[in-house]
Amino acid sequence: MKWIYLFLVVLFVGCKNETPSEEIKTPVQGVIAENAMVVSAREEASKIGIEILKKGGNAFDAMIATEMALALTYPRAGNLGGGGFMVYRTRYGELGAFDYREKAPIRSKRDMYLDEDGNFIQDKSKKGELAVGVPGTIAGIFAVHEKLGSLPMEEILGPVIDLATKGFVVTEHQAENFEEFKEILKEVNGEESIFTQSLKAGDTLKNLALANTLSRIAKNGRSEFYEGETAQILSDFIQSKGGIITMDDLKAYEAELREPVVFDYKGLKVISMSPPSSGGVCLAQILKSLEPFPLSEYGHNSLKAIQVITEAERRAYADRSFYLGDPDFVDIPIDTLISEAYSNARMENFSFDKATPSSSLSYGVIPGYESPETTHYSIVDSLGNAIAVTTTLNSYFGSKLYAKDLGFFLNNEMDDFSAKPGEPNMFGLIGGEANAIEPQKRMLSSMTPTLVEKDGKFWMSVGTPGGSAIITSVLQTILNVYEFDMTMQDAVNAPRFHHQWLPDVIVFEPNSFDDKILNDLSEKGYTIDEENTPVIGKVDAILVLPDGRLEGGADWRGDDTAVGY
Ligand code: DON
Repeated sequence: MKWIYLFLVVLFVGCKNETPSEEIKTPVQGVIAENAMVVSAREEASKIGIEILKKGGNAFDAMIATEMALALTYPRAGNLGGGGFMVYRTRYGELGAFDYREKAPIRSKRDMYLDEDGNFIQDKSKKGELAVGVPGTIAGIFAVHEKLGSLPMEEILGPVIDLATKGFVVTEHQAENFEEFKEILKEVNGEESIFTQSLKAGDTLKNLALANTLSRIAKNGRSEFYEGETAQILSDFIQSKGGIITMDDLKAYEAELREPVVFDYKGLKVISMSPPSSGGVCLAQILKSLEPFPLSEYGHNSLKAIQVITEAERRAYADRSFYLGDPDFVDIPIDTLISEAYSNARMENFSFDKATPSSSLSYGVIPGYESPETTHYSIVDSLGNAIAVTTTLNSYFGSKLYAKDLGFFLNNEMDDFSAKPGEPNMFGLIGGEANAIEPQKRMLSSMTPTLVEKDGKFWMSVGTPGGSAIITSVLQTILNVYEFDMTMQDAVNAPRFHHQWLPDVIVFEPNSFDDKILNDLSEKGYTIDEENTPVIGKVDAILVLPDGRLEGGADWRGDDTAVGY
């Protein structure tokens, strides 16, 4: 039970106190732009992305600048010490996906988080040196640059280095967040840092160590982080703490170019992240399961819509826990999982009369098959290139381990592995063999950076943090626009709910759903929780309007900001 609560707490990804329900009654449009747009978790990061676009850079150059600006201005999730995924669609309609997810260190072991009796030591995969996966972000930005970038790296990183040197302004949310984590940051690091001082909203925070690290990377390139001085400082630092990441791990790290998961939903073409993220496969499974149902007739957040979405989610997450893992290590029957025939078969025992208990449901049978903190940003440039990027340290400030000399936090992504079959991770997700720890393997993710095409043209870029609730938040945002005719901003603002097979509860954002509907759901056998989840996801998105202009949807739940021109 304790883990259910931790899972619910982790879904809290930073919120304002009021709900947007009043605003939803009259449609609210987000920022509108004629040419290009960046929507991210921080105004400075969106502005730096736009600055690069205005200088003549493309969406891929802007991605690199925005990613690094978030590492500076949003250090609880933006990172050099973590990893992420980017889905792209070029102006010519070419599709692709970059995987810069962290990897298990060479010296990692399947049972490394278990005690002698085989019990899972919860803290070990979440906090401190052993929780850290080999970081992929710098390899990611260089892979993007090499294939699709246009400006020199020094020019792209320049504005971020300047801001790190001059300092950025701490927001109210951020001041609260630093205050909340101050003690644990001190405890894990055994020393003070710029993030453990008392910071108030409006204070200016400089990160000179990060400015130096980025300057070295701008000058020396990718190898600076994986083989050079930075690599040496990083591996010495982790080993001095008792961690197992060495120079060999850094040298061996490569970002991968993957085929995204592509599928149709009622005339839309959805392009989303492939394994090692479960995002695209689960999103496809859920949407395919929903396809036969007239959601718009049922109405947004109506009893029938909530029921059928919940049941589709339950079945997809049950499959996630069995089939999905790093595709370089496990064979995943993606085509079958996202097929119409499989979804129809999975939904055969669904009834509007009563809930399907998760205890009665396991993964689907596929014949012949053998066997909290993240941030999302969306960018569209004036040429028509579009990207969706989700990047993470996992929990807030990752492992909490701060490489002071380098100016960045290290992830605790190792907790996304299944430490032991049947044992939930911090998001309550249960994994099996496919996601067991193996040296050099990537841990399964839920990150779902997604692009959508309508009538053959780019239409939407969307994604969010939120751990296991990422997939269901992206799902609801797409449905809100396509099925329920909302503006991009309203679609992002609308209250969300989430089900993930186990624990068998539907989590609702509090005070946002009709009491009668919640009672009806309880009567049909659903377990409702709206006590412990202030917000689900923090979605940032861009929509192409019928006249070709762009509408940004920046989540009211955080400091998220759309900037366009
Ligand atoms: O990759 C994943 O699925 C998780 N590490 C994401 C963590 C996350 O979204 C936390 N943010 N709220």
